[in-house]
Amino acid sequence: MTQDVRKRIKQLRDEIRKHDHLYYVLNRPKISDRQYDKLFAELKALEEASPQFIIPDSPTQRVSEQPLEGFATVRHAVPMLSMDNTYNADELRAFDERVQKQLAPAGSKQAEDYDYVVELKIDGVAISLRYEEGRLVTAATRGNGEVGDDVTANVRTIKAVPLVLLGGSRIPSVLEVRGEVYIPTSAFVELNRLRTEADEPAFANPRNAAAGSLKLLDARITAARNLSFFAYATGEVSSPLAQNHYKTLQRFKELGLPVNPNIKKAKDINEVIDICLSWSQKRLKLDYQIDGMVIKINRFEQQDILGATGRAPRWCISYKFAAEQAETIVESIDVQVGKSGILTPVANLAPVQLAGTTVKRASLHNFDEMNRLDVRCGDTVVIEKAGEIIPQVLEVKKQLRPAGTTAFKVPKKCPNCGSAVAKDEDGVYVRCVNPDCLGQLKERLKYFAGKGQMDIENLGPALIEQLIDSGLVNNFADLYKLQAAQLAALERMAEKSADNVIKAIEESKTRPLWRFIAALGIRHIGGQSAQILAEYFGSLKALMDADMETLGLIDQIGPTMAESVYEYFRDQKNRSVIDQLLAAGVKPRQPRTRRSDKLAGKTIVVTGTLENFTRQQAEQAIRQAGAKASGSVSKKTDFVLAGKNPGSKLDKALKLGVKVISEKQFLKIMNTD
Ligand code: IVH
Repeated sequence: MTQDVRKRIKQLRDEIRKHDHLYYVLNRPKISDRQYDKLFAELKALEEASPQFIIPDSPTQRVSEQPLEGFATVRHAVPMLSMDNTYNADELRAFDERVQKQLAPAGSKQAEDYDYVVELKIDGVAISLRYEEGRLVTAATRGNGEVGDDVTANVRTIKAVPLVLLGGSRIPSVLEVRGEVYIPTSAFVELNRLRTEADEPAFANPRNAAAGSLKLLDARITAARNLSFFAYATGEVSSPLAQNHYKTLQRFKELGLPVNPNIKKAKDINEVIDICLSWSQKRLKLDYQIDGMVIKINRFEQQDILGATGRAPRWCISYKFAAEQAETIVESIDVQVGKSGILTPVANLAPVQLAGTTVKRASLHNFDEMNRLDVRCGDTVVIEKAGEIIPQVLEVKKQLRPAGTTAFKVPKKCPNCGSAVAKDEDGVYVRCVNPDCLGQLKERLKYFAGKGQMDIENLGPALIEQLIDSGLVNNFADLYKLQAAQLAALERMAEKSADNVIKAIEESKTRPLWRFIAALGIRHIGGQSAQILAEYFGSLKALMDADMETLGLIDQIGPTMAESVYEYFRDQKNRSVIDQLLAAGVKPRQPRTRRSDKLAGKTIVVTGTLENFTRQQAEQAIRQAGAKASGSVSKKTDFVLAGKNPGSKLDKALKLGVKVISEKQFLKIMNTD
């Protein structure tokens, strides 16, 4: 039996590694996500039942549950150098001439033959992965080139990074792989959306997002960031993988390491230049950011001849794309009030074309940043799209500043309601702290009605402003008391459009509970955490009555979020608005897996693989039926739910005489009212 379990565990691990490689490295998945989840769940169940077989390289062990205290440092066996830059074809030609000269044998003007490899310059964070006997032992950042931070726990969560190399006996006993950890642009956009929703500062560009994600002390958060990796060089190696760079990259692939697919050999500098120029437009189609190209001499022997200066090797150079920048004039600076009162300075710009769009506004992020740049009305500024996405002010052309300008003052009063503002204790934000500020209310209502929340069609920002300015709406609940005639009487509204708005408001009454929770705009609670809360509590009432202890125990709801939720529902005004919403007929739908007390007070242990649930889903269903899902069997266990291949927990249950039920029986209990 034990032998069988061991064999199956090994089979599953190999199988999962193979699919990780197909999916994350080769981009060629062979099985569905569902089939993959099944394999993973089976492995997890077997390992839980026989923890003596768990090894650190198992695919289940990518994420460590233990938050780090800080980062240890790692001395690089071979220093991680930086690279010299070029910005145009002439500079590339000058580089080639230097190479030619240095590769010419003494007394000869003619260099021996050499060729180049041209690669994309991935805009992420340089990482050195150290494999010993084929297993990943350390991952370190570049740091100052000599000493970096040990970020192994976080890098292990990146599925494109193999924990074990493929290729058996042909792997050098020490192999340091260098490459770039990056965040795909789509993941970056989504991450910033979630952060903004939860009132957390957005990352300025994908590189910062990748760097920030690697420096988190809790690897579980890193795991959720969808980071990825490309390998592009070696550090220390006990025996070289090949004689040249290009072949080394091919060997990387055989070892299961992800190598960027757009790598090309070039026989001379003209070919190099053609390739570089061709990417200045093509790069916009990639789902990751590149800030240039990297050109490397292919043969290692020639790399050695060329050597390095203290800072950078002489055998490689980067070609940087001109960042898309534009100059324009700041016409005015507005201060916007956000839904939680944060005041943000925004520059209104003379319209200008930038990377394919017309830019008229740029956020100045916060007043510290605005003062650092010293942006004033009338200034000529250079703007850039950070990571080709968000327009931002890069610098002020001080020499072009008109006479008589003054520095923009941090407002002491809210531009909207005129009440005093306060600076966050530990942050950079200045807030309007007046709970009755109409500016905040407008933003809260826009958010409430927004697509990701109550999704009220036709109730756009302009109409919301009108409704508040006219005094018709003072809180969320007032929306549901509106009459078509009141709306029709507003400027730019007609009977038909008024009817449509009323219909859309009516339809929103039965939105799912999570959307309703998200729509309340509780600080730090975005769509994702609202879903977790809705699933956990199953009803609005249960959420409203939850105490700090319960909130604090929910997986993925951190202490700041828990406190924010708790405080929100202790506020009488908030409660009264919710009461009015319910009285007006708003009925947030319960999630399908509604909480019940079918199994109230029971303690249940799950073992083995279930057909209809993953382990997590089964435990969630148990919790939602009012029972406790426990990890180990004792006399206090009410029953054990045993799936296929149950482990020692089943043996223990039988020994203690604890009731065992099958998945079929469990489904029957859950499905009868
Ligand atoms: S080779 C001596 N190849 O660019 C440097 N670096 O500006 C050897 N980078 O620190 C590195 N893509 O983080 C190399 N295909 C690529 C790269 C690349 C991005 C980064 C790397 C390096 C930085 C230098």
